[in-house]
Amino acid sequence: MKFVCSSLTLSFLLFAFVTNLSPSFTYNNGFPILNTAFEPIHPYGSYYIIPTFFGVRSGRLKLEKTGDSKCPVTILEEDFNNTHYLPVKFTKLVDTEFDEIVTGTPIEIEFTRNKPDCVESTKWLIFIDNVINKFCVGIGGPENYPGMQIVNGTFNIQRYGSSYNFVFCVDGSSSFCSDIGFYNNGEGGGRLILTDQKISAFVFSETYSYDDGIIRSVA
Ligand SMILES: *[C@@H]1O[C@H](CO)[C@@H](O)[C@H](O)[C@H]1NC(C)=O
Ligand SMILES: *[C@@H]1O[C@H](CO)[C@@H](O)[C@H](O)[C@H]1NC(C)=O
Repeated sequence: MKFVCSSLTLSFLLFAFVTNLSPSFTYNNGFPILNTAFEPIHPYGSYYIIPTFFGVRSGRLKLEKTGDSKCPVTILEEDFNNTHYLPVKFTKLVDTEFDEIVTGTPIEIEFTRNKPDCVESTKWLIFIDNVINKFCVGIGGPENYPGMQIVNGTFNIQRYGSSYNFVFCVDGSSSFCSDIGFYNNGEGGGRLILTDQKISAFVFSETYSYDDGIIRSVA
């Protein structure tokens, strides 16, 4: 009966989620996204995603095992740790006139270092954790989420005050989108989840070295 249970939970969650979605016209698309050195971000760059709170930068993103998982596929936002950053690259999913990635551009986000052996891909995805009933950001593929659903869609970046936040839009619909925020589940860092509350603000620090976790471009 496990299947019945989880598919009921799923329908409920999808319903709750869809009613929470914002039409994309509430987002401001097409604005430049600047790194911490005030240069536009682009698909050829490597970046650290740094949490920021009222302009104060602190913390990092990390990968951890959560629930029963044997594989560190859940992305957590950890406060007060400014070491062991994981660089990402952004890949545009649509052709645009300029190389720069602007607000609203559909992108893939991929960690480019420390890939766990138990995943095929370090691209970000959304999975429904039916234990905590949240849409969470993780990596990997369906094989890493037994008994859970992956939601197909794309990420984009929006402005959030003087920093930025991530948004996820359900596949095939540019109008069903949700902000990504912070959910403390007592796991040594907050989950990144789809929510319209406690939105997680970030800045992007371009890395000029691929082999260490030191930030070189923080102004
Ligand atoms: C930061 O993370 C590293 C590696 O995960 C860990 O060894 C270290 O103790 C952490 N530092 C703090 C201040 O939590
Ligand atoms: C999500 O995408 C995968 C691969 O493209 C596809 O096999 C799957 O059916 C899709 N899932 C849903 C719920 O649309």
